[in-house]
Amino acid sequence: MNREEAAKRIPELREQIKDHNNRYYISNEPLISDYDYDLLVKELEKLESLFPEFARESSPTRLVGSDITPGFTQVRHPYPMLSLGNTYNEEEVRDFDTRVKKILDNDPEYACELKYDGVSISLTYRNGRLVSGVTRGDGTKGDDVTANIRTIRSIPQYIEGDDIPAEFTIRGEIYIAIEDFARMNLEREEAGFEKYANPRNTAAGSLKLLDPDEVAKRPLECFLYSMLGASLPFRTHSQNLEIAKKWGFRVPDEIELVSSVDGVLGFISSWDKKRKSLPYEIDGAVIKVNRLDDQSRLGMTAKSPRWAIAYKYKAERAGTILSSVSFQVGRTGAVTPVANLVPVLLAGTTVKRASLHNADQMELLDLHLGDEVFVEKGGEIIPKIVGVNREARKEGSLKVIFIENCPECGSVLQREETEANHYCPNSNHCPPQIKGKIEHFISRKAMDIDGLGEETIDLLYRNGLVENVADLYKLSFEDIIKLERMGEKSAENILRGIDASRDRNFHELLFGLGIRYVGETVAKTLAKYFENIDKLIDATYEELTGIHEIGTRIAESLLSYFSQPENLTIIKRLKEAGLKMHTEQVQGEGSDILRGKVIVVSGKFSRHSRDEYKEMIEINGGKNSSSISASTSFILAGENMGPSKLKKATDLGIDILSEEDFLKLFDQSSN
Ligand code: IVH
Repeated sequence: MNREEAAKRIPELREQIKDHNNRYYISNEPLISDYDYDLLVKELEKLESLFPEFARESSPTRLVGSDITPGFTQVRHPYPMLSLGNTYNEEEVRDFDTRVKKILDNDPEYACELKYDGVSISLTYRNGRLVSGVTRGDGTKGDDVTANIRTIRSIPQYIEGDDIPAEFTIRGEIYIAIEDFARMNLEREEAGFEKYANPRNTAAGSLKLLDPDEVAKRPLECFLYSMLGASLPFRTHSQNLEIAKKWGFRVPDEIELVSSVDGVLGFISSWDKKRKSLPYEIDGAVIKVNRLDDQSRLGMTAKSPRWAIAYKYKAERAGTILSSVSFQVGRTGAVTPVANLVPVLLAGTTVKRASLHNADQMELLDLHLGDEVFVEKGGEIIPKIVGVNREARKEGSLKVIFIENCPECGSVLQREETEANHYCPNSNHCPPQIKGKIEHFISRKAMDIDGLGEETIDLLYRNGLVENVADLYKLSFEDIIKLERMGEKSAENILRGIDASRDRNFHELLFGLGIRYVGETVAKTLAKYFENIDKLIDATYEELTGIHEIGTRIAESLLSYFSQPENLTIIKRLKEAGLKMHTEQVQGEGSDILRGKVIVVSGKFSRHSRDEYKEMIEINGGKNSSSISASTSFILAGENMGPSKLKKATDLGIDILSEEDFLKLFDQSSN
């Protein structure tokens, strides 16, 4: 490349890398694989060293990708939070070892660790107490996420043990374990939410939620990987990590000390094979010079330390041809594009299909039929398309466009602004939605109907015997026995299962109805709060959103569901079939001091959080509402209650209770 070409390519690369940094660190939706990203960075590094006249302090080769997000306060790091030099090959690991030895003039000991694939965090402890949790940010300052960090169980709030420095910083990686991630996604799918893409992006997104109560619901965990401070207990990195483990930190066991580069390469290759059996995702190994005085002598460059290097495992990738794209309709009506590929061998299995997620992802890839595409297998079961070879595209090939009509029932698809998915609105008559709803209804966590499976539901539907969940309760032995390959025993079993489902609890039925965004937990909350289905059907938007845990999306979905006469008919028929439509009284904690009271909580509080007050109201028999009306019993007002609310309350003559007044209600009752 000549100087002129470099002058054009360098700014292009910088723009692209900055854009990918934003996608990775801010929106948590990376577009390209780490490998392709690293290739861009390496190309830029090479050009900047060949043409130093174009080097800039602000180049992404010198700055770490920033995760700073609006809504958080920034805190300066006591020690800069750097990134690591990445390599994908053995040769560069040997070069690293040579460089290290040259500077140190001796053979160093290396600590070999896994490279946990999550998001980094810097924790500071003072007198044994956690005082702050800060993200990497731009390496100099990061976002203060202390309140969120305090909800993570594997991060100790207090530590105890020998030699704890008065103040120190410990850094690590926040991640979500593979099994927890799968469970989370299953629950989301059951509630009709879009699935999360992968554990790393979900962990990163969760850490930046503005509501710590929400963060607490995410299964975040933290591995610690380095300790910093003016007076650390030991002079090697590994000993400090060992003692950190004794103090109560979660330090992985998979750390090995080796004394040669061959030892390093042995560690790397053994984990390349074993990594699939780990309960969490890793994307490589990190090699660190173990002695802290050696680390100081090696020092660092603008962006990364000279005493450490990351070896990254390449995701397995294969090239193949895109034959067609099909569109699948799920239970909730969400339409997912799926790429059909010329079969190709990838990581030991034949791949014929790849997920394309949604219209935006499809558009970004700009797929044309017959394109040469690259598929990769990450942690997910279905591989994904990570790139297209545009140069090999045949002239005149057709661009793949998202369909406008449902492929199953022909309805015009809808897409709401805030949603990534297209939906088929014909929820009660579109075949896959009908079958999907029945499958969901009979599933274990809902009505748990034994004997009925996907195949039988398909047969029942195709024979015109069921069109919705209420039809299950009118099935007779004669209806079932005439189905293909149905034996007497199985038919009886199905009928027994359907009959037994009449004893399922109200919340299980509510979950089973498959109302969008009403997952297991939300169904339980609703059943506890509304006692019976009629009260829930009559609930207003204010009443619904007043409930702790029920947000606007869920409230809107419930109102829309109950506004459809067909759904009300189904509910009526289920009731007539003898299903439980009310909550059985349970003895629980709390009281009924606030029974019959509708309360609006407003402003900022000092003794408890707003959510805690809302919960307290519910536990003690009251109802929360989000807006003031004539039916409001009183307002629990903290500081900064809005002036319009205040005026409305005064106009309507509604009592305003301070935090203290409110808490006194409980004191009196216990005296
Ligand atoms: S040590 C100077 N050790 O990888 C940076 N980092 O690209 C020292 N990471 O931001 C980091 N596992 O989030 C270190 N065992 C490990 C790690 C690890 C994952 C992440 C970390 C860091 C990034 C560097």
